[in-house]
Amino acid sequence: MISRAGQPERVLSGMRPTGRLHLGHYHGVLKNWVELQHEYDCYFFVADWHALTTHYEDVNLNMGEHVWEMVIDWLAAGVDPAQTTLFIQSRIPEHAELNLVLSMITPLGWLERVPSFKDQQEKLKEKDLATHGFLGYPVLQSADILMYRASRVPVGEDQVPHIELTREIARRFNFLFGRDPGFEQKAENAIAKLGKNGAKMYRKLRVAYVERGDEEALEKARGFVEENQNISLGDKERLLGYLEGGGRMILVEPEAALTPASKLPGLDGEKMSKSYNNIIALRDDPDRVERGLKSMPTDPARKRRHDPGDPDKCPVWELHQVYTGDDVHAWVNEGCRSAKIGCLDCKQPLIDAILAEQRLMHERARQYSDDPTLVRSIIAEGCERAKDVAEETMEEVRNCVGLAYY
Ligand code: TRP
Ligand code: SF4
Repeated sequence: MISRAGQPERVLSGMRPTGRLHLGHYHGVLKNWVELQHEYDCYFFVADWHALTTHYEDVNLNMGEHVWEMVIDWLAAGVDPAQTTLFIQSRIPEHAELNLVLSMITPLGWLERVPSFKDQQEKLKEKDLATHGFLGYPVLQSADILMYRASRVPVGEDQVPHIELTREIARRFNFLFGRDPGFEQKAENAIAKLGKNGAKMYRKLRVAYVERGDEEALEKARGFVEENQNISLGDKERLLGYLEGGGRMILVEPEAALTPASKLPGLDGEKMSKSYNNIIALRDDPDRVERGLKSMPTDPARKRRHDPGDPDKCPVWELHQVYTGDDVHAWVNEGCRSAKIGCLDCKQPLIDAILAEQRLMHERARQYSDDPTLVRSIIAEGCERAKDVAEETMEEVRNCVGLAYY
């Protein structure tokens, strides 16, 4: 996926380090990351400051252990440090700086309306989340995203309002700071550089969008500008900004790329989640996994071996959807409904498939568990790359808000 200025499109996502990852994370988020890394310029990071917003009181948190174990889980799942940039939020203090600058221009009302603000306070009643930091959580997240000019942000449904807010903050920033003096004149000069026909087309499309809200025209004009090889990056930004009536696009509005929701059931048949204590960790102990699956509840109608059952009422069947193929499905369906197979028979191919997947994860993780310096250096390298991009963005931001004086 190629975008502005011929660079591969950038993807960014973060995860809070709040414990070991499980198969729900794998089938929801991590497999998605692994696919994206082949196609996009991916930045994945540990959101340790975000973890502090809800766990600031927890002095025994042991952040370091959570962080390194989580990064090993990513690597075990197949995230490839040669193809992606992996880093830790707090190692790039620019995130805090951008958070501060963005907080200046973010109206309080926008933050109070973000649904997670009230929802989480309700849900985590035992914590005092009436804090400045927690209200500002989505601003920090906006800083994470806007820092890297990411055009796509893979997140779960619950995070979509945060991406929406990020877009609004970017728009407001560009509106406030993207109109350098003489902006319109500069935009006109840039249009002239498109050549006679190009300029005519650009004007026509711009009018269609600005005056009639024609989204298709906007898309077309964007594509036209992005593909143009003859104009400078500054002119491109100007022309893109001018299309929407605003100034230069200094901060890039991202899109949310919805991560497929994982409904993977846990060992008690409920949705797999750390808070239900029913997880299979990514790198779990094989004996524990086998025992857990063997005692996992099935269709309650199958009290005895010869009672027929219905896979649609059985959480084990949901795991089969993820882990086994069509012939096993046919065998389960027929065997369960006719009581030809027992539940333990039914579980065996599933156990085999999950243990095989876990063997691969254990194998990938081994070198990192054996030699902790390896993960440290992957992160150090990622932080260096991230820092370069962050510094570039911050120079422009400082400049925009009037802080680049001597
Ligand atoms: N808020 C996200 C979550 O709880 C984590 C996160 C922090 C994030 N910064 C981000 C996700 C930036 C995507 C992009 O899952
Ligand atoms: Fe569930 Fe399989 Fe038992 Fe049927 S046979 S109830 S699908 S575990």
